[in-house]
Order: sequence, then C-alpha cells, then structure tokens
Amino acid sequence: MRYGYFDDEKREYVITQPDTPLPWINYLGCEEYFGLISNTAGGYSFYRDARLRRLTRYRYNNEPLDEGGRYIYLRDNVSGQFWSPTWQPTRMPLEEYTCRHGMGYTAIRSLNQGIEAQVRYFVPLGESLEVWQLSLTNRRPAPARLSAFSLVEFCLWDAQDDATNYQRNFSTGQVEVVDGVIYHKTEYRERRNHFAYFACSEPLAGFDTQRAAFLGPYRGFDRPRAVEQGQASNSIAYGWAPVGSHAIRLELAPGETRTVVFLLGYHENPVEAKFDPPGSQTINKSTVVPIIRRYLQPEQVEAAFQALRSYWSGLLGRLQVNTPDEHTNRMVNIWNAYQCMITFNMSRSASFFESGIGRGMGFRDSAQDLLGFVHMIPERARQRILDLAATQLESGGAYHQYQPLTKRGNNDVGSNFNDDPLWLVLAVCAYIKETGDEGILQEMVPYDNRPGSETPLYDHLQRSLHYTLERLGPHALPLIGRADWNDCLNLNCFSDTPGQSFQTTTNKDGKVAESVFIGGLFVLAAKEFADMAEHLGQPDEGLPYRQAAASMGATVLSAGWDGDWFLRAYDDFSQPVGSSQNVEGQIFIEPQGVCVMAGLGLEDGRAARALDSVGERLATPHGIMLQQPAYSQYYLHLGEISSYPPGYKENAGIFCHTNPWIMIAEAVVGRGDRAFDYYQRINPSRREAISDVHRCEPYVYAQMIAGRDAPTHGEAKNSWLSGTAAWNYVAITQWILGIQPDYGGLRVTPVLPAGWQGFQARRTWRGVPYEITVERRGPGNTVALAVNGKPVEGNTIPVAEAGQTSVSVHVTIS
Ligand code: GLC
Ligand code: GLC
Repeated sequence: MRYGYFDDEKREYVITQPDTPLPWINYLGCEEYFGLISNTAGGYSFYRDARLRRLTRYRYNNEPLDEGGRYIYLRDNVSGQFWSPTWQPTRMPLEEYTCRHGMGYTAIRSLNQGIEAQVRYFVPLGESLEVWQLSLTNRRPAPARLSAFSLVEFCLWDAQDDATNYQRNFSTGQVEVVDGVIYHKTEYRERRNHFAYFACSEPLAGFDTQRAAFLGPYRGFDRPRAVEQGQASNSIAYGWAPVGSHAIRLELAPGETRTVVFLLGYHENPVEAKFDPPGSQTINKSTVVPIIRRYLQPEQVEAAFQALRSYWSGLLGRLQVNTPDEHTNRMVNIWNAYQCMITFNMSRSASFFESGIGRGMGFRDSAQDLLGFVHMIPERARQRILDLAATQLESGGAYHQYQPLTKRGNNDVGSNFNDDPLWLVLAVCAYIKETGDEGILQEMVPYDNRPGSETPLYDHLQRSLHYTLERLGPHALPLIGRADWNDCLNLNCFSDTPGQSFQTTTNKDGKVAESVFIGGLFVLAAKEFADMAEHLGQPDEGLPYRQAAASMGATVLSAGWDGDWFLRAYDDFSQPVGSSQNVEGQIFIEPQGVCVMAGLGLEDGRAARALDSVGERLATPHGIMLQQPAYSQYYLHLGEISSYPPGYKENAGIFCHTNPWIMIAEAVVGRGDRAFDYYQRINPSRREAISDVHRCEPYVYAQMIAGRDAPTHGEAKNSWLSGTAAWNYVAITQWILGIQPDYGGLRVTPVLPAGWQGFQARRTWRGVPYEITVERRGPGNTVALAVNGKPVEGNTIPVAEAGQTSVSVHVTIS
C-alpha cells in the first residue's frame, strides 16, 4: 500500500493523505538556518545548533505524534468554522490534500469548503530565515470572508533547558511587537545578542504572543480560543510560554487568489549595539528590518525560491545516471544524494528520533557521511575534514562527537571509541581522490582545538593509524575500547546499574577485549594511506603502513577467522564473539563486509565463503540482519547490543548502514547479481509498494528495519540521519555502477547484474563532465575503455587535459 507517489520530473515525493503511518518529513535549510518539517507542517527550526539555538518548540513523542510546527488556521467568518490547511493541528477533514516534499522545500496544498490553500515553506540561500508562502484562492461562486492565523511556539533557545528548567523558564519569556512584527527576545536583556522574529506581509487584525491567551484554558493547538472566536487578544508574553501568532482578515472575490508571506527568522546584533536607543531594553531593529522588508515582497520570495531550485540542480547534476532500474535512477539522481546532503548538514543531531539535544556531530559518522557528499560540495567537505581533525587528540584518538556551534569536542561523551580515528583516513583519501587537492595534507590542524598544538593534517592521519597499532590485545588484534562502529557492542562496560550510559560507562580497563572489525578497518585504512603516499611520490612513507596492513591482515585471517566467516571480536575473557562456538550471536555482518572490502581472503576463497555465510544466515527479503541468532537475554559482558529485544536495532535488526558493506564486498568478489539484489532489498523507493509494512518515508533510508526475530519484521525506524545514506550511495555508484574517483583518473569498473545491458552516466569530476556509456557484451566484469573514441589501456580514464570541456567514454564489459 502507498500513501503517495514519486514525481521525478519535479524531484518531489507527493503525499496524498495526511495520516501517514508516521510523520513523513523533510528538511529546510542548507547553510546555517535549518528546520525539519513533516507532511502536516509539524517540526522545528534552529540556527546552526539544534540544542543551543532552538527557535521553536516541538513535541514529537506526543499523542497525537508530531505536535508543534509552522501552523496556519483558516476561519470562515460567516459560518465560524475553522480548519488547518496542512491538516494538523486541527485535523479537520480536508476535501483535497497533497504534500510535496522537494529539495529543500515543502509545499502543502489543500481544498476545504471551496477555499484552496497552498503553503510553501523554504529557507532562502544565504539567509537565516524561513519563508511561508501562503496562497489562498476562493473557489466558491460567492465572496469569501476569511480570517487566517499563524502560530509558532518559541523555544527559550537552549532546548534542553527549555524542556526541564521550569522554575526559571516560567518567568523569563519576553517579546516585543512592533509594526506587526513579533520579536522573541527571551534572555536578550542579559547575555544573548540574538533574537527571533516572526513577520507577516499583511496588515494585522491582531496578534498573540502568550500561549495561554491564544489557546484559552485547557485547550490544545487543535482548538485555540482565538481562532474559534475569530479574534486575537493582542497578548504580550511576560514569562510562561511565548508564541507568535498573527491574525489577518481577507475578503476574496470568486476566483481571486491572494498571497500572504510569513517570515520566521533568527538575527544577531553586535554586542555593543544590542539596544535602541542605547541604554534602553528595546531591541535595536535597524539591522533586521531591511531583511524583513525584503522578504515580505512576493517577487523577492519567488526569486529566492528559484535560486534554491538551481542550487539543488547544480548539486545533483554532478552525477546523474540512466540504468534499467527506475528505483536505482530515482535514488541515485535525487533522493539518496539529497539524503547525503542532509547528513552533511545534520550529522545525527536533529530528526524525529534524535531530539536535537543529545548528539552533536559524530566523528565516525561525519567522516563516513563525507563519502556520500564530497562530490557535491568539495569546498565544504574540506572544512568538515579540518573541523573533525581539530577534535582529534594528541594520542591519535578522537572525541566521539563535537558540538556544531562551538566545534569543540564533547567532554560528556569523551573518547576511546577505538575505530573513530581510522575513518578520518578514509575521508581524507576520498576527498583528495575527488578533488586532487593534495594541499589539504599540509594544512596545520590543532589537537583538541588547542592553539600551539598544530601539525599538518598528514600527521593526524599517521597518528590515527598508530593509535590502532599502539593498542593491540592478546591476539595482536586491535583493542575495542568503549566500542567500535557498533556502539552497542560494549565489551568493557559490564553495566548492571539502570540508566548508566552504555557508551560512556566502562568498568573494565579494556586491555583484553579485541575487535576483528577494527582489524579489517585498519587494513583498509592503512592500504589507503600507503596508496596515497605512493601517489604523492613518497613510497617510503607508505611502506611501513603497507607492511602493517599485511601483518594485521594475517592476524585477522588467523585469529579472526572462525571457519566459515570472520569472527566479530574477543570479549573481556578472551572468548570469541560472533563464532559458531557461541550459542547466540554466532555471525555478525560487520566484519564480513569490512574484511572483504579490505581485500582479506580474496586469494584463498575465504572472502566468498564469508559472504556465502552472510547470504545463508543473515539475509532476509527486507535486508541483511546485523547478527544471528539474536540475543534472547541481557549479557553483562556484551552490553547494549543485548539490551534490545530480538530483531531490533543492533540486536539482529537490519541495521541498514551495514548492508552496503556487503554489497561492496559482493562487488569486490565480482558477484554483481548478489550485490544488486541486496541493494534492491533495502532501496526505499522499491519498498514504497509496502509502505504499510515499512512505515517510514519511501524516499530516504532509515537506520533500521526490524529483523526476522521481531514481531514487526520489515518495519523501518529512525529515518534520514544515518550512515546508510552515504554507504548506499557509494555502493551503487562506485561499486555496482563502478564509477570511482582515483588520484590519477576516474576508474570505471562496473559489477552489474547479469540481466543489465548497460547504463549511461554523466559524472562531473574535477570540473569536467564525463559522459559515460557502459555496454555489456559478455557475462563477465572485464572492462574495455575508449575515451573520446580512442582505446585506453586498463580501466581508468585519465584526468581530462586542461581546456577539455567534456569527455566521452565508452565502456564495454564482457
Ligand atoms: C548509530 C551511530 C553510529 C554507529 C551505529 C551503530 O547509527 O550514529 O555511529 O556506528 O549506530 O551502532
Ligand atoms: C544507541 C543506539 C545506537 C547509537 C547510540 C548512539 O546505542 O542503539 O545505534 O549509535 O545509541 O548514542
């Protein structure tokens, strides 16, 4: 069953009924001002940091779900009836409803009682504000006398404090209302120099800024007294819960359309010019009023919207493919790339499963996300790399997270996730392959942001590798620390105290438990580093890492091989985890993926054997499970993984992030049918047809799909912010379609399903578009290349010569 359809031409998903199984969301903003928005206009906004600069309140886990948003109420002033054109919050039935989620905007259209309403929400490029463009058309044969009310509920900036510190917060709220603009200025009188504003293009019939006055006693957003009575009360908030609501009256002739613009924005003043007149307590508005005036003009708004559209066409245009599969085309060309950009913006911080409070930018998460967005925004990827590296510690370890506002490592979460630093190596190599910008390696980057501690980025990468080598356990495999990629395999935690964080509690000194996964990841990263050093003309510098990779590889193949697959780990008693000797958790997906990606077991068939075991034991029609058999009870020595009921999350859920590692590994061993089959199983667009089972948005990947042990097998959870986005993008574009940026050229090594006759791609690489046509002439994966009509040895298209404006590439595989 479906709840909408894809409109690929417009790059939109069109939702045709408001009561989707879960709120289906989209993101607004791509620079500093962001918001998330559901298909019924729920959601919240923030400036740079979802915790520390939150503009509006939001209650996701409410009943009904998804409360608080960018609300508009319409009222027929003759009948007194009112409704929300975005369905929530009144949930009055609408005669027609569609929500179009597009690239950086959402437009909701409805028809009710002869009044057609369309509201389009977006954030103009370069601005820290959002626009709500409301168009109302009278489809009745007679004139319509209407009122419209807007509504946002302000957050008192720090979202955590806002939700907990009531003794203070009930007394601090402050607003100003001047020339119809509502200014939210809580704490502006003291240490803040920022405020929010909410403006409307129409003359006001009234306004409200105190929530209780707008709603009336014991009423929710679904039935505000002001709307019911058709009359705002011009309330001014002193403490309690400041809101912003404009009331306007409109008379529409039959067929007439009127457009009203609302602006919600964030603004900072210089500290010395906060007040006007100086010495008063009144906000200096001289810096913000010109911005407000500008965007209240419909032509400016339209121009800003067109600019946003071309911005996204530019980004997505860097890689467009035409394959025999519509789901592949749609995901690669539109939604998967878009999701990668959203993970660039948000990391894991703000979604409907992350409250925007708990997590900043993850070190390993951001480094992996980069693999999916680097070709779209190389300049900003460069900055991300430098920001991440600056939170690395002198030991080579890394803060697990940093706060986007301060760019400082988060002390509460700390360090000792022993895989973290290795991902930086992969990110930097991917960046240089994409851009050719070797200069980044010489950038001076501090440790823990400490001035004076700077070394070239190149040294940071070496320290990352040494961090692993300096922390080996009894089998000479890497010590796991608090956790490796699997945050929930906590082998040094031993927590029996409710409420302790599995991620930050360690009750063992961590000198025994080892990770085969980190072993495989080290081999991959050390080889990447050695390749890079060779490419830079410094093979001597690469050699020790090549040797270290070889010796770690040998260790993994001996101490880390179980017979039919790679082991997962050794626990604190030096007992295997992920072994046929275990009763539960016999085989894990992660080491099978990463070890084969690192090239382990390719010569002696163990790679293929491990992948066959994955196929036999872990694959389901809904994707590949993380491990089997699921843990049926809590194991003190394994930690959080066994805290989840069987089939969910890391305990044998289909943790989608890991699936593309298997797709890539299948491509590495040359099995295109299997690689593509796995790709299809979790492809959201393909799962659209079973939206009633899948339940999450059909246009983006979710973190997890419930595994076979779960009563809700096939149900997705935690959409949008997941490494799944980047890795699936890499798996399909670089391994199955096989277009891989490399230092000295663009490599093309497709590993396609047998039934495909080929595909076309247009890839912009280092500023030049490559028009690639791939044609199958035989059943294998052997590549023959012709570049601009001339045969080229090997499988790598050389970097285009200066002045070339496009390169045409013909590839045959046989
Ligand atoms: C979450 C985390 C990620 C971790 C994964 C597996 O997605 O953001 O860092 O690797 O879970 O536990
Ligand atoms: C939980 C989740 C895991 C995530 C971690 C991050 O443990 O299960 O996926 O990585 O939280 O804090």
